[in-house]
Amino acid sequence: MTARTNRRRFLAAAAVTAGGTIIGAGWARLGQSGVLLRSRCPLPPAFQSLLPIPPTLRPSRVTADTDYYEITQHLAEVSILPGFATTAWTYAGSFPGPTLISRAGRRTVVRHVNRLPHPVVVHLHGGHTPHDSDGYPLDLIAPVAAKPGDAAMTLPGSTMVGYRDYVYPLRQPSATLWYHDHRMGFTGPGVWYGLAGFHLIHDDIEDALPLPRGDRDIPLMITDRAFTADGQLHYPLADPDFHTPGTTSAYRDGVLGDVILVNGAPWPVLPVDRAQYRLRLLNASNARRYRLRLDPPPPGGDGLVQIGSDGGLLDRPIAHDDLPIAPAERFDVIVDFRRYPPGARVQLTNTLGSDSTGRIMRFDIATGPAPTDDARIPHTLTAPNTLDPASARTTRTFAFQNYPGGWRINGRLYQPGTDIAQPRLGDTELWRFTTDFHHPIHTHLGQFRILTRNDHPLRPSDHGWKDTIDLGPAETAEIAVQFTDYPGRYLLHCHNLEHEDMAMMADFTTI
Ligand code: C2O
Ligand code: CU
Ligand code: CU
Repeated sequence: MTARTNRRRFLAAAAVTAGGTIIGAGWARLGQSGVLLRSRCPLPPAFQSLLPIPPTLRPSRVTADTDYYEITQHLAEVSILPGFATTAWTYAGSFPGPTLISRAGRRTVVRHVNRLPHPVVVHLHGGHTPHDSDGYPLDLIAPVAAKPGDAAMTLPGSTMVGYRDYVYPLRQPSATLWYHDHRMGFTGPGVWYGLAGFHLIHDDIEDALPLPRGDRDIPLMITDRAFTADGQLHYPLADPDFHTPGTTSAYRDGVLGDVILVNGAPWPVLPVDRAQYRLRLLNASNARRYRLRLDPPPPGGDGLVQIGSDGGLLDRPIAHDDLPIAPAERFDVIVDFRRYPPGARVQLTNTLGSDSTGRIMRFDIATGPAPTDDARIPHTLTAPNTLDPASARTTRTFAFQNYPGGWRINGRLYQPGTDIAQPRLGDTELWRFTTDFHHPIHTHLGQFRILTRNDHPLRPSDHGWKDTIDLGPAETAEIAVQFTDYPGRYLLHCHNLEHEDMAMMADFTTI
């Protein structure tokens, strides 16, 4: 290793302590990781655009047991900043991509056609998916026009040319899932340039609950981005030709933008009735974490009533004033705008941010009499997550570490094809994660239960079924996890997409 790279490592290591903002008791070690990339164009004023709702994708074909969809990925000009057309990598022409809505247990087949100039991989995040449809990072879809000998065609995975059919059995409860690019080494730019969308699952348990629905059930994809002087998405690629993965060295801790987008619009406004709304919050940012808060909070507080986590409904609602949300996490919350006076304007703010990143969007409450609202939050939503650590026979430790040469798990850079673990299907296992920096840690295939965080009680937001847990520097967490149904190779990785691209990922094979 050269002196120069040594120095770079040293600086990066120093940033670990310098960058970790410590916030109040109970929130120890919640902070930001990453380096701010500033936009070169003037930032648009906040609260000028209406919140877009991503279009719902219609199935191209429906049979007795399967819904078939087709999504063509292609470059498209989208309108994000006023006065600019922005070229994005899109699912079917929009950013976010179209929302898929599935029924639990009903097979969903999504054909992804790749008309982008790069290989792609599609992963359904939170999906209980057989290995060959899970979006293993080397299972590429080469562009429609790819020829033998192109770079994508020489990689070891199972590359398909032009399209791939992803088969999702969806034997899992109602939940807010999302799909995104998962190409080996290039997930960061893929998502940053636009490849992310919602996939919602409904089931009978959820249907029977009197929760807000229809246009009072709103998906909110929160992302941060930076833009060039001419309004294009700006990402600090190590290699503009996409041969070498990762970012330029300054951004290896993570790329943070200065523009906050919700469903692809900067600091948008949603006009709401004086009624209850279900907000499906998703942090689809590469590296930025947020601490969400209503401003002003409703009288008496507890404005964000959480009903769901990554894997679906909680057993019972949990009220929050502040809700930390790390990359890839989802929180379904109910906000009761009847607690505010008619005409009130309520901001969703980010108390981990400042200036342009301190606010997210605004809800403008209608004037006049409140409409009827029969929705209610029941005391019991669904069965609790009872994964029992006492029944675990296997304990594994995974150390997420900043080593020379990349971000590592148990000392190893990502090596596709080398297992870090081989959990048995149906066994409950105890997994212990330790960190030296901020890492939102994600498991494919199985949802887990958080048992302890630094031997302390959990954060109020740690409950329910999770597929991503956010850890700060020098934290330890224990989770109970169980993988079922599908044998094969899956991933454990950091969902800070820059850490992921720079090797903080490992294979495990279920047997
Ligand atoms: Cu959303 Cu493997 O990730
Ligand atoms: Cu995932
Ligand atoms: Cu990380």
